[in-house]
Amino acid sequence: MWRWQATEYSPESLALTDVKSPIAGPGQILVRVGAVSLNYRDKVALEGGFGTGHALPVVPCSDAAGTVVAVGAGVHRFRIGDRVISHLAPRWLHGSVRLPEDDGLLGIPLEGVLAEQIVLSAEGAVATPRYMDDREACTLPIAALTAWCAWFERCHLQPGQTVVIQGTGGVALFALQFAEMAGACTIVTSSDNQKLERVSALGARHTINYRLEPRWGLAAKALTEGVGVDHVLNVAGGASVMESLSACRAGGSIVIAGLLEDAEFTLPILPFILQQGTIHTLSVGSRDAFEAMNRALEISEIKPVIGREFLFSEAKAAFDLLERGAFGKIVIRMSS
Ligand SMILES: NC(=O)c1ccc[n+]([C@@H]2O[C@H](COP(=O)([O-])OP(=O)(O)OC[C@H]3O[C@@H](n4cnc5c(N)ncnc54)[C@H](OP(=O)(O)O)[C@@H]3O)[C@@H](O)[C@H]2O)c1
Repeated sequence: MWRWQATEYSPESLALTDVKSPIAGPGQILVRVGAVSLNYRDKVALEGGFGTGHALPVVPCSDAAGTVVAVGAGVHRFRIGDRVISHLAPRWLHGSVRLPEDDGLLGIPLEGVLAEQIVLSAEGAVATPRYMDDREACTLPIAALTAWCAWFERCHLQPGQTVVIQGTGGVALFALQFAEMAGACTIVTSSDNQKLERVSALGARHTINYRLEPRWGLAAKALTEGVGVDHVLNVAGGASVMESLSACRAGGSIVIAGLLEDAEFTLPILPFILQQGTIHTLSVGSRDAFEAMNRALEISEIKPVIGREFLFSEAKAAFDLLERGAFGKIVIRMSS
């Protein structure tokens, strides 16, 4: 069977390689992959950003959906023919915090999923929502689960609350869809007016161009008649954390998921104390959270936003687009 693998820590060394088909051992399932989606993490991993001490070659990517074609001894969760999705952290089954014993992420340090067939831990995989095909389902493991856990595990988002969502990336678009599902008022920021038109079409109530309006936090607060928003999903870090605080009401919360602008920030403590705010962080979510999200998806039938699809043979072009950025998830599908 064919898989993409990198023999060095560089996206240029990615090559399609013919290897022996894997075999499902005890507690494992063999999955015929239908589609894989890309995340920012895959680019960082290939560039050696998570360390270069892992065994080479690197098989990239963590997010795949497909069909079970064989089960190992002792597997009761799935049968041949079941449709499944990979889970980034296959050992993290329960709880809202990933503990050291839950470590080990697909793509690095564990073998990734950009292959025709993969072996997954049966405990660390989830059933595909029935209404989704593999192209849609493969977008869920990182982007959707991060947005889900930000709103429902960290912020305990309630109907009628107001949220600010930073940017229009993979996590942000799911955050918009989940916030709409929960009956929240959504404010989305972007550097691009065309993307803001597209998020309005997806249901965003208000939009702000953060390039044209550097004080976007204050602009968001103004949209709430000066009260402030309940929660901010922050993917940029850096100075934008302080601006997120400007958007919040007394007692409001910020979830920091990413560091696209800067890996560090400073915050004056006194205004933060007086505002009585909360800063959350998160690192995707557990398998239980993934299954809770999928139950909600079955009811809401939210359609993931797919920005662009590539064939398996075109994986390098998909990584090039990841570098440039896309509106919606980048998906690699195994068959045409
Ligand atoms: N902690 C976690 O569990 C977790 C999970 C998933 C992802 N992440 C991290 O979250 C971040 C976003 O991931 P993603 O997959 O959604 O990425 P993505 O699809 O590449 O989206 C990035 C988007 O963020 C916006 N953005 C970039 N720089 C910005 C800035 N300085 N200020 C405001 N917005 C900015 C841009 O929106 P516009 O083009 O509209 O301006 C861009 O499209 C990454 O850092 C990723 O590593 C963390």
